Amino acid sequence: MPNKVTHLECSLCRKMYPAGRVHNLCECGGPLLVRYDLEDIRRNWSREAVADGPLSMWRYAPVLPLNGNSVVTLGEGMTPLVRTSRLGARVGVQELWVKDEGLNPTGSFKARGLSCAISMAVQLGIRKVAIPSAGNAASALAAYAAAAGIDAHIFMPLDVPQSNYIECQAFGARVTLVDGLISDCAKIVAAGRDTEGWFDVSTLKEPYRIEGKKTMGYEVAEQLHWELPDVIFYPTGGGVGIIGMWKAFAEMEALGWIGSRRPKMIAVQAEGCQPVVRAYENGHDRSEFWQNARTVASGLRVPKPLGDFLILEAVRASGGAAVAVSDRELIAAGLELASLEGMFVAPEGAACVAALRKLLQNGFLKSSDRIVIYNTGAGLKYLEAYSTRFPRPDLSEQDKLGGLITPR
Ligand SMILES: Cc1ncc(COP(=O)(O)O)c(C=O)c1O
Ligand SMILES: [Zn+2]
Repeated sequence: MPNKVTHLECSLCRKMYPAGRVHNLCECGGPLLVRYDLEDIRRNWSREAVADGPLSMWRYAPVLPLNGNSVVTLGEGMTPLVRTSRLGARVGVQELWVKDEGLNPTGSFKARGLSCAISMAVQLGIRKVAIPSAGNAASALAAYAAAAGIDAHIFMPLDVPQSNYIECQAFGARVTLVDGLISDCAKIVAAGRDTEGWFDVSTLKEPYRIEGKKTMGYEVAEQLHWELPDVIFYPTGGGVGIIGMWKAFAEMEALGWIGSRRPKMIAVQAEGCQPVVRAYENGHDRSEFWQNARTVASGLRVPKPLGDFLILEAVRASGGAAVAVSDRELIAAGLELASLEGMFVAPEGAACVAALRKLLQNGFLKSSDRIVIYNTGAGLKYLEAYSTRFPRPDLSEQDKLGGLITPR
């Protein structure tokens, strides 16, 4: 089926760019957003017809940018929305849900964006991609590049979780660990664009990752029978999850699937890296570079999100908020969720549980609000962070191999 993309539009200056060509940022430096002929889609597709599609995010193909069937997929999306009643009772919320993105391929929501971006890269004839990443985006890029048979060049901070490092190597990517932050990795990728011929898949510098991520917004609507929740908590690093869902809600309204009511969008950050929270509290439209960013929630270690103005716009327009929690609070919240609900979530998702408590305590939210928390990744990817709470006595080398040499 031909796609219904009309053009790409700069989110800053509104300049329009033709579809079907390779693009990064607008000449003004603004991220490009994909625009569709929603009137035409509305006439030919309905929300009831969604159920006939595949059990993946590609059930939303009519509002995705791909032409035909050249999708690079590992079964991403359609993650469970789990009612967490025991945790709800503990924190004092009648209806609390967790959307578990940890069940995606490579264990995080990043699979959505990179399935879409790599599918588009292949369609546009790109053979070499490069990415700066806090970890999970790199794992997803490496997996989809392997599935597509193209080259992936990955730049991650030195202290990236071991899971991400091993995954990228296992998928056959070229991996470089950088003594710095994701912002330092981004500079190396930008420099290699001309010299190495890499296509830069940095979040928002590439227009299609956000299209994959926006399906988190379509899915929550579908799973709640086309009624959006009152509140959405989202762990915010680059913020593309929030920006993408906000875009999805606008598209769904244009399609006649939902009304104008929107959930309060809550951007959750870690105390050790909270540029968006600071900008929100100071009433600014843009964030300032956060010096010495530090948090075990590695996906939140983004000192200056490129799309900060879009995150802040969504948070404010929705009547939401931006909240920071400490590493101690988020790890404790993750263990609480695990022991009460049987869900072992990433520290980023756990941060949302800690933030929920704060917004109930200060009266910003009510116990009758219908609340959805996005857990963006699997706890199993963060054994270093959680093992601080469960230290084991010295293991011999043999024990570290899990009894591989001498089964026990
Ligand atoms: C597990 C996890 N959660 C959240 C984020 C932040 O994502 P976003 O760019 O959508 O804010 C990341 C990014 O690396 C991540 O890996
Ligand atoms: Zn522009």
